[in-house]
This record gives sequence, C-alpha cells and structure tokens, in this order.
Amino acid sequence: MSKISGVKGMNDILPGQVEVWQHVERTAREVFSRFGYGEVRTPTVEDTALFVRSVGEETDIVGKEMYTFEDKGGRSLSLRPEGTAPAARAYIEHSVLNQEPLTRWFYMGPMFRYERMKTGRYRQFHQIGAEAYGSKEPAQDVEIMDAVVQLLQKLGLTDVSLNVNSLGDEACRPAYQEKLVGHLRAHVDELCADCKVRLERNPLRVLDCKQERCQQIALAAPSILESLCEPCRAHFGDVQRKLGALGIKYEVNHRIMRGLDYYTRTTFEFIAAHPVLGTASTVGGGGRYDKLMKSLGGPDVPAVGVGIGLDRLCILLQEGGQRFSQPTQLFIAVADEGSADEALVLASRLRREGLRVELDTRGGSLKSQMKRADKVGATYTLVLGERERQSGEAQLKPMAGGDPRPVKLAELAQELRASGTPAA
Ligand code: HAM
Repeated sequence: MSKISGVKGMNDILPGQVEVWQHVERTAREVFSRFGYGEVRTPTVEDTALFVRSVGEETDIVGKEMYTFEDKGGRSLSLRPEGTAPAARAYIEHSVLNQEPLTRWFYMGPMFRYERMKTGRYRQFHQIGAEAYGSKEPAQDVEIMDAVVQLLQKLGLTDVSLNVNSLGDEACRPAYQEKLVGHLRAHVDELCADCKVRLERNPLRVLDCKQERCQQIALAAPSILESLCEPCRAHFGDVQRKLGALGIKYEVNHRIMRGLDYYTRTTFEFIAAHPVLGTASTVGGGGRYDKLMKSLGGPDVPAVGVGIGLDRLCILLQEGGQRFSQPTQLFIAVADEGSADEALVLASRLRREGLRVELDTRGGSLKSQMKRADKVGATYTLVLGERERQSGEAQLKPMAGGDPRPVKLAELAQELRASGTPAA
C-alpha cells in the first residue's frame, strides 16, 4: 500500500514537542486573564465574504493565500487566515456592545494561509490573539502591547524588539495615498503585474509586496508619519509617551504597514533577533482598527488587537533548550505473572491520588521492563512480586542513582510526595 503523507506546510505536534506548546498556551492564558481578557472560540471556517470585506481583496492573504471552497449547499467558505475578522463577526452577531461598553477577548487556534513555507512559516499555523473593543484611547493600544511584553518576558524571550507606527485615519490617509501614488507612478514600469493593479485599487498594499523590485521602490516611498493629521499625530504621541511611562522600549518605524486593510492609526510588530527564524522573525503584530466593525455591518466601535505566532514562539523556546515535559514519577516493574493484576491495581490507585505512574502492559522480563523505565525517564522504580505482595513492602529505587529504600505499599503516595517529586 502506498503511504499517505500529511499536507505540505501543516505540521504534526508530537508528545515531547507538545509540552512547549502547552507551556506557551498556559502562560498566555494566565497573562491575558490578568489583563481581564476572556477567551473566545470561533469556528475555523467562515463565510469567504467576511475576509474579503475586512482583510481586503488586494491583500496577499485574501488574493492569494486563502483556502476557499464551496460547501455542498453552494456557499463560498474559507478556512480562517486570521482571527480578528471572526472575532469581530462574533462580537457583532452576539450584540456584545449592548451588554458592556468595553470588551476584552483573547483566542488561540489554527489559522490557514497558502504561503511559501520555511522555518516559522507554515500553511496551518497557530495564533494567540487578543482584541479590545470599545476604547479609542491610546491607553488601550498600550495595554495590548504591555500584555505581549509581559507574555514574552514570562516566557524568557527577551531578545524581541517592538516597532510602532501610525497609519493615520480617513481624514489624513487620502493625502498620504496621493503622495504614495505619485511616487509609485514614477516607477510604474518596474512594478510587478499585481502591484500595477494595486496601484489603481489599493496603493498601500504595494508597500508589502514580496517582489524584490517592488520592495526597493517601497523603501524609497514617502513616510506616512509626515502626513498624519493633528488628532492622529496626538494619538501616536500619546501612545509613545505611555509606552515610555511603562518603561517599554520601542522604535518608531514608518514601514510597519501590516499587510491587512483594516488598520487605522497605531500599528506595531514584535520582531525577534534570533537567527533561527530568518525572515519569519515577526513573532506578533497588530494595531487599531476603528472602522472595521461598522464596515462589517456592526456598531461604530473602536478596537485594537494583536496576533502572536505560536509556532514561532515555540521555535524560539525550543532553541533555548529548556525542558517542559513532566517525568514519570514511578515505574512499577512486575516480577512474576501472578503479580500483574496487583501491579495494575496499585498503579491505578496511585494515579487516582495524583501521581504519574507507568508500567509495561506488555509484561516481559524484568530487564526489558527496566529498559522501559529508563526510556520514560522515571524518577523511581519499584519491583512488585510475590514477596512484596506478601509483606506489603517494596524497595523504592531512585533512577538517578543512590540506594533503594524500603517503603510500605499502602504509604507509597505520601512517600513519593514527601520525596519532592512534583504531583501531576
Ligand atoms: P498577522 O501579522 O498577519 O496579523 O499575523 C500575526 C502573527 O501570526 C505574525 O506576526 C506571525 O507571528 C504569525 N504568522 C502569520 N502568518 C504565519 C505563517 N504563515 N506561519 C507562521 N506564523 C504566521 C494578523 O493576523 C492580525 N489578525 C493581528 C491582529 C489582531 N490585528 C489586530 N488584532
């Protein structure tokens, strides 16, 4: 029979690796809940129109990278390429604004983009996202960035820099767009075919084209920061002042355009210095999107959010070489056939009491069972045979070396806890 492989760019996460993921997820849950963010879970599949209207038709994400298909009822559906639009849809659908004026949500889960894959860039990847609805104030932008800073610190990922920018709003962006179009028209013959179309339909998107020549032209484009209107300038100034007040280091970078259409005013990216990620070094990005809700048929609610690349955080943590798995506390080896049932009962009882216990259900020689104990990295082993069953006592052997010590089977759980092995 021929072998069926997994889909290109979509990874399995096996035990041994998954502990890093669980550690990051646990830490993110803790940090975001400290900031008052509640978890929201939305479906993996949405109406295609949701992403076309929010992320934007001229973006690479919608134009080239979306997994879109027709269901049996003839509806056009897409695997979500990001989490902001689905969360916004849910917010509108459940009339959340009527229940509270300020809402903070976070989410985690797989997203899908048909991208060229490399280390840190996959077709199924995972985001931790956070969105705050109802505050137009710079304090909210800064709160979101602070949460990411605290998450990264708690994970020990300190070599990450924060870049901030402002994209202006409907009052000042048209003037910038005009300047940009002027610059791009001077190079129109050199632009790629897609960018020629973008120049007419959505010139800002030329700035995040991945073609080398288009990137060179984008590099020489005028800075959006010089075109900000007074309210946008004041907002951006306040964001920077508040970041300073929190002692968060940042750089202003007028090239943070973000590749999605819904942003207004603040945008930001967290960029890791470690070489393992290469050009996939952006571990998180986000910004304000004050006009999105209304454009999706919802209320006029300002919002700001962030998306963090879980896969990328895990790669960085794995590079750090830390161990996250919890070892088996006790391995029970069975000395004779007649003790097998008793070993099963003993293991079951200890697990019920919260300990991580293994035995080899295949049976086999004591030697092969001990090999297994070694393989699973058990902290202690214990041999159960006729003699131990009769006396109710066995030898507890530390696998790291040292002398075995006698222990009463009835007191095993207390004994293991007292010896400092962490409970599950
Ligand atoms: P984004 O910049 O497209 O923003 O994605 C956020 C993060 O997801 C990136 O910084 C990166 O770490 C990770 N990421 C993106 N694509 C891939 C990929 N193909 N493979 C691995 N990781 C990837 C958004 O998605 C916005 N929804 C963020 C946001 C939330 N803005 C406001 N609220």
